[in-house]
Amino acid sequence: MRQAGSLERLRAFVRDIEQMVGLGGLRLAERAADRMRGLVAQDDWLPDEMAVPDKKFYQQHLLYADPQDRFSLVSFVWGPGHATPIHNHTVWGVIGMLRGGEYGQRFSIDGGAPVPLGPDELLSPGAVEIVSPTHGDIHRVRNAHDDRVSVSIHLYGGNIGRISRSVFDPATGAPKDFVSGYSRRLEGLFPQLQAACGQKEQNG
Ligand code: FE2
Repeated sequence: MRQAGSLERLRAFVRDIEQMVGLGGLRLAERAADRMRGLVAQDDWLPDEMAVPDKKFYQQHLLYADPQDRFSLVSFVWGPGHATPIHNHTVWGVIGMLRGGEYGQRFSIDGGAPVPLGPDELLSPGAVEIVSPTHGDIHRVRNAHDDRVSVSIHLYGGNIGRISRSVFDPATGAPKDFVSGYSRRLEGLFPQLQAACGQKEQNG
């Protein structure tokens, strides 16, 4: 459960990523993964409205989007039994498990049916992993629990809700384009910045 003032943990995380974003690519992802371990080590900061599941589909709630689209941070909320299709990201991503658990399995697709690169691996609270176009970008993920909600925190090297990427047919490997969008957006993380952006939009 979130405690008063704990949004500061989230702000501090975003500020730290802003500081290191110039590193770029996998080096940035590795540094960010260290920072993510600190963020998901405590489960007292995520606003309750950013952990709301849907009955049918997993949810991707936007916590922060860099104004220059260099990175974005989302809470991924799994209802009982929810699962993704096999999909890619096209940018690096750092996944930190906050609550519950998820199973992830990586695949390679080389002109035919998806080939598993390993077993279904369990990510438990506090654990962090990296996906990247250079180190394996295709996976399928599911809630480890059939009776409760799980939440993971994802940092991506772009505005993930707007990026055109692919889901893959599990039998043939045929790709299909998709853009994920966001289910909800966190307001008020940086009130001054949002006010400035609103002013800019009004001014065109
Ligand atoms: Fe993914």
